[in-house]
Amino acid sequence: LVLAESARSCDNRHMTPAKLIAAKRDGHRLDDEEIAQLVVAYANGDVPDYQMAAMAMAIYFQGMDAAETVALTRAMLQSGKTLCWPGLDKSIVDKHSTGGIGDKVSIILAPALADCGMAVPMISGRGLGATGGTLDKLESISGFRTDLSITELQQVVDRVGCVITGASDEIAPADRSLYALRDVTATVPSIPLITASILSKKLAEGLDALVLDVKWGSGSFMKTLDRAKQLASSLVNTAQGLGVSARAVLTDMNQPLGKMVGNAVEVDECLDVLQGGGAADLVELTVDLGAQIVHLTQPSATLEQARSTIQQSISSGQALNKLEEMVSAQGGNLQAVRPRARQHVFQSTQNGTIQSMDSEQIGWAIIEMGGGRRKLGEAVDHSVGIEMQVRLGDEVRAGQPLMHVFCRNELWSPVQHLLAGTVTIGDDAVDVPPLIVEYVDAA
Ligand code: URA
Repeated sequence: LVLAESARSCDNRHMTPAKLIAAKRDGHRLDDEEIAQLVVAYANGDVPDYQMAAMAMAIYFQGMDAAETVALTRAMLQSGKTLCWPGLDKSIVDKHSTGGIGDKVSIILAPALADCGMAVPMISGRGLGATGGTLDKLESISGFRTDLSITELQQVVDRVGCVITGASDEIAPADRSLYALRDVTATVPSIPLITASILSKKLAEGLDALVLDVKWGSGSFMKTLDRAKQLASSLVNTAQGLGVSARAVLTDMNQPLGKMVGNAVEVDECLDVLQGGGAADLVELTVDLGAQIVHLTQPSATLEQARSTIQQSISSGQALNKLEEMVSAQGGNLQAVRPRARQHVFQSTQNGTIQSMDSEQIGWAIIEMGGGRRKLGEAVDHSVGIEMQVRLGDEVRAGQPLMHVFCRNELWSPVQHLLAGTVTIGDDAVDVPPLIVEYVDAA
């Protein structure tokens, strides 16, 4: 079998795209050169979308081994520009989250890491499915720009230490095209394709270290812990295969993170944390993710020391100063009042204990209010949101508020309808899942 496989690879130095697709479809592995050849041809427009869609489907069904995933990620990364940081005497670091409901950690963590002496060139995304996007949240700050050129991005990092902006067309263009194809061909949930997509953009930042917050549960796109673990391993092993030190943290997304879900309300909650307040789970996760990065870049520090470094940056107000600097370098005004729609109250109809939450449906309710997009390019209403009043395992009584909902009056009735059933109340004792499940390092 091994001989047959290597013979196939040697014979097919000039395989056509159709032959490469057939090879993958039939369960053969592709070598580095074949993968690079296909991605380059796709990025140049020499391989049409229909062939790349067929390849995505072949990968979806047959999977890719670790070496193939590294080759695919490298090829997609090399389809665009990679940032270089000559003369910058700092560790270049970032955090990526696979996305969740109320996940606003980046807005707190990027300035905290910058305050701790690291450079954070964070290229971030918009909402995907029911989950919110950091760029949409930040755009609720008056004047804030998320469309910086690569030169502007580097200038902000040089000056402030951190930046949060969108990916320009020059970063991993092959991913941009392939992601759009996967979206319409039902091939998004493939672990090698997700790995290459996430890492081709993140590693284009020219990083020394990356921490990955891989979420599992009702509000994330990995609904089971097992799938989340597979994705976490694939991400850290592929990053290591490309020379970047990475650690994944498996975290709970069976209820929103923190109290606020939306755009402007989430920025407000970040400011609460940076002023010493904020929900305990949000603070705990932010500090832990930051500590993992400190630990990856300074292995001599214990995790306890690393946690206290991040904690100190937040509690001293220094991280808040950094956020203010970053916002103003990106044209924004953090002092300008952010919009908040009228408050409605969503109440419990029964007595009991909160058993479960359909966090994804809470995300869809935000989209229904206009706080996210149903179609690419739709405008976002930054003023809408939800403030959670309860958490899993809480005791509630009929009539008690479960959520404060900020939305336009005319949308309150359909939104209420969507929220009905998002919180399950019963009499059973509840095992609340741990916020941080485990850490995953490269094999
Ligand atoms: N986020 C990405 O950037 N790509 C994926 O494939 C999934 C999530």
